[in-house]
Amino acid sequence: MANQRFLDTMARLPAGVVLVTARAGEEFRGLTASSLVSVSAEPPLVLVSLERESATRAAVLETKAFNISVLTKSQEFIADRFAGRAPAIDPHWRTLPHRLGRNGIPLLDGCAAWLECDLMQTHLAGDHDVCVGEVKQAEMGSGDPLILWDRSFWTLH
Ligand SMILES: Cc1cc2nc3c(=O)[nH]c(=O)nc-3n(C[C@H](O)[C@H](O)[C@H](O)COP(=O)(O)O)c2cc1C
Repeated sequence: MANQRFLDTMARLPAGVVLVTARAGEEFRGLTASSLVSVSAEPPLVLVSLERESATRAAVLETKAFNISVLTKSQEFIADRFAGRAPAIDPHWRTLPHRLGRNGIPLLDGCAAWLECDLMQTHLAGDHDVCVGEVKQAEMGSGDPLILWDRSFWTLH
């Protein structure tokens, strides 16, 4: 099957958009992702699939921890910036309102929800690594979710 047909077909699947963050020494790394999935309730587990070449994946594997900030529709520009489609954020996030989780990894302000995770397992999967995280902290925010569908951003209404 042609790769383009697979990509075009998967574009029909709606997905929530999140920011995956990690720490690299004194700097932060972050990546826009649409692959976050809830996996298990007991223990609480999620998975996110990270490109083998991404700087965020390297930091997650190095520190064995990552955070998730669930983006809202008003944060579309941030999604573009962390996907390399708009000017990059400086590695200390000086211009980006955030707080640090208990694990020292940033959580973006104004999101729909936040998770702090310990990396539990990684599975090689083609050109990505599936990273399974055990959720150590979970917090609810508010706002309309940012949804990826048909290669564009949407919200629910
Ligand atoms: C809507 C959207 C969803 C994305 N989902 C993922 C994903 O689930 N996993 C991934 O590794 N990259 C995903 N990407 C691509 C990364 O955001 C992009 O490669 C990023 O620049 C990697 O940054 P880094 O190398 O600084 O970690 C997505 C991009 C967009 C725009």
